[in-house]
Amino acid sequence: MLRLRYDTAPAWKAVLLDNIDEFLCDHAHNERKVAAAALQLAAHQPRHSGLVHDLIAMAGEEVEHFGRIHALIVERGGELRHDQPDPYMTAVHRLLRRPDNAAYLLDRLLAFGIVEARGCERFRMAAEALSPGPLGALYWELTASEARHHQCYVGWARELYPEPEVASRLDELLTAEAAIARALPLRPALH
Ligand SMILES: [Fe+2]
Ligand SMILES: [Fe+2]
Repeated sequence: MLRLRYDTAPAWKAVLLDNIDEFLCDHAHNERKVAAAALQLAAHQPRHSGLVHDLIAMAGEEVEHFGRIHALIVERGGELRHDQPDPYMTAVHRLLRRPDNAAYLLDRLLAFGIVEARGCERFRMAAEALSPGPLGALYWELTASEARHHQCYVGWARELYPEPEVASRLDELLTAEAAIARALPLRPALH
């Protein structure tokens, strides 16, 4: 398991409970965006056929999550609002090296893994805040998915890059992600 280096403040739960519909829209867009990011990475790495296969499967799961959250929003009488800027993802993307760098893929696999781990942390907090009830149960289920997803991404990095390089870059990215998450205000959003 990835150990994140900043724990979200417990007060985030109250922000979530006060703005559940806003949170659900942000969550839905995040599922859409992680699916798109997985497919974009697959298209960028055609020589790694095994990874392309796995990324397509990952994107499929994220699309399914997107569909479930969208259905839930509609069930609650709402609709998917326009996506809002996500300062967390913007800052995380700034950490990643460019396509001409040999570590382009390594950076994305590790960063996607860390983002999944952050999602896992927030879903667990949402599940705790929303339990008992069907919404809480859904978030417990999603907590388990994200826990699996972050292990997949880090595992793929370990298959494709030497362990010392993975360990050193993971260490840098975990520290940088913690600083990003710590600096952001608490919002009714996944990040
Ligand atoms: Fe998901
Ligand atoms: Fe995921």
